[in-house]
Amino acid sequence: MAAKKKAFRSTEWFGKADKDGFTHRSWMKNQGLPHDLFDGRPVIGICNTWSELTPCNAHFRQLAERVKRGVYEAGGFPLEFPVMSLGETLMRPTTMMFRNLVSMDVEESIRANPIDGVVLLVGCDKTTPALVMGAASCDLPTLAVSGGPMLNGRWRDRQIGSGTHVWKFDAMVKAGEMTLADFMDAEACMSRSPGHCMTMGTASTMASMVESLGLGLPGNAAIPAVDSRRSVLAQMAGRRIVEMVREDLRLSKILTRAAFENAIRTNGAIGGSTNAVIHLIAIAGRLGVDLGLDDWDRLGREVPCLLNLMPSGDYLMEDFFYAGGLPAILRELGEAGLLNRAALTANGKTLWENVAEAPCYDRAVIHSMAAPFKPQGGIRVLRGNLAPDGAVIKPSAATPALLQHSGRAVVFEDIDDYKARVDDPDLDIDAESVMVLKNCGPKGYPGFAEVGNMALPAKLLKQGVTDMLRISGTAYGTVVLHISPEAAAGGPLALVRTGDRIALDSEKGTLTLEVSAEELERRRAAWQAPAGAARGYAKLYRDHVLQADKGCDLDFLTGGSGAEVPRESH
Ligand code: FES
Repeated sequence: MAAKKKAFRSTEWFGKADKDGFTHRSWMKNQGLPHDLFDGRPVIGICNTWSELTPCNAHFRQLAERVKRGVYEAGGFPLEFPVMSLGETLMRPTTMMFRNLVSMDVEESIRANPIDGVVLLVGCDKTTPALVMGAASCDLPTLAVSGGPMLNGRWRDRQIGSGTHVWKFDAMVKAGEMTLADFMDAEACMSRSPGHCMTMGTASTMASMVESLGLGLPGNAAIPAVDSRRSVLAQMAGRRIVEMVREDLRLSKILTRAAFENAIRTNGAIGGSTNAVIHLIAIAGRLGVDLGLDDWDRLGREVPCLLNLMPSGDYLMEDFFYAGGLPAILRELGEAGLLNRAALTANGKTLWENVAEAPCYDRAVIHSMAAPFKPQGGIRVLRGNLAPDGAVIKPSAATPALLQHSGRAVVFEDIDDYKARVDDPDLDIDAESVMVLKNCGPKGYPGFAEVGNMALPAKLLKQGVTDMLRISGTAYGTVVLHISPEAAAGGPLALVRTGDRIALDSEKGTLTLEVSAEELERRRAAWQAPAGAARGYAKLYRDHVLQADKGCDLDFLTGGSGAEVPRESH
């Protein structure tokens, strides 16, 4: 007797011959869907973050059509659904505040609906972790498809990179080296095609994390959004997710401890964004995989930076793709013994099987382990009385001389204070000072303030100063980030005053506020927590957000609930 065909999850909705089944199918048929689509074939949810308010993801409707094509080809039934989107350049106060909200939207949308497997369409910075976190808490077969980077920015005779050149041009205008007319002219030249930022910012980093985790197909990280091969990748993802459902290849079988270790090392090799630290810890938390700051320090320490990409280097994502893309980097790591080669990936092969023969076409862009682009690629974790639960610094983005530095603190109480005073000609600051920005952490801003970066004072830029030690902002240079606990949560950062001395030793991994414990206790007695939101999601977020060292998830969202919902809706 032939073995009984396994019933998929969606059969609990569409496979019934009663009034519930009638209800589930009948209303769906108003979309012109033939009856045989409800015959028990795998139903694939396509989770779409398309939005015209998220320009990096604005091409996702076309991408979704390609995924659908692949799903149909493989005998599946695709159903696209929207979730809240996060546009980095427009949303206030920060997209990071909404990452967890989107993850809830994704998790509940998947669980509540007749979905057997899901394709996540991700692009702009927080859309990737938000969707992966939500899907992880359901643990169905899942594939992520990134939307791809924009074409390289090009202004007149030079390549310009998303973000990187906004800060650079802004500093040049302040230093009197660029006219405002040229500044405005460069605007359209930076973002000249669909896609996400084409520097190694958070979006490209997370697209690379998706590929190195095995959650996306090979090539996911770097194919430009407008390259026809991005459409092919989406179509192949559509085909593959149907097979993954048939194989019951769930997310938890791919996102293992080994996969996270691979991703951490990859982040070091690509000079990836420090934001990946938070996002990967949060994703791991949803799956019960034990991952912390010390893993980043330990695993990243031995990895050199191989990729010459802005903001640390000269090239852009389009160049990365032509040079061989992420598979070429992964091959370098694998040959150096820095990959868990047996980690399973979404296409059913191991990570090593996918990349063992990957070619590199341009060593100016993708360096070898023998001749790395920069000797230090990883993220260094700092601890000390200023960051009892840790902070991070990215040595590859820093000025080497500032990685061991001690200076006088110049404190800004919050981003408004910073904006009001930083360019004041009378500000008492010099190149040796340590700029400190308070209240821009998860609770303080609220949400991490990605664009609340700490550019240097105009008067120092005019003197030719290009970098200073900065604490708790985001910008390119020697910046200490993710201080835990943050000022608004009562961390020691709240107690720093202008004139205090702060010492950083990146090699030793220390960050020290050179003020006595007694004096700090006196200051603490006088400290008052800043007021937060009185209602709504902002209040929920502030009341429950974990600190950066724990991934900034909401405390009640860690872990997962699977995909079971036994009760019918009627
Ligand atoms: Fe969307 Fe950079 S603004 S990826």
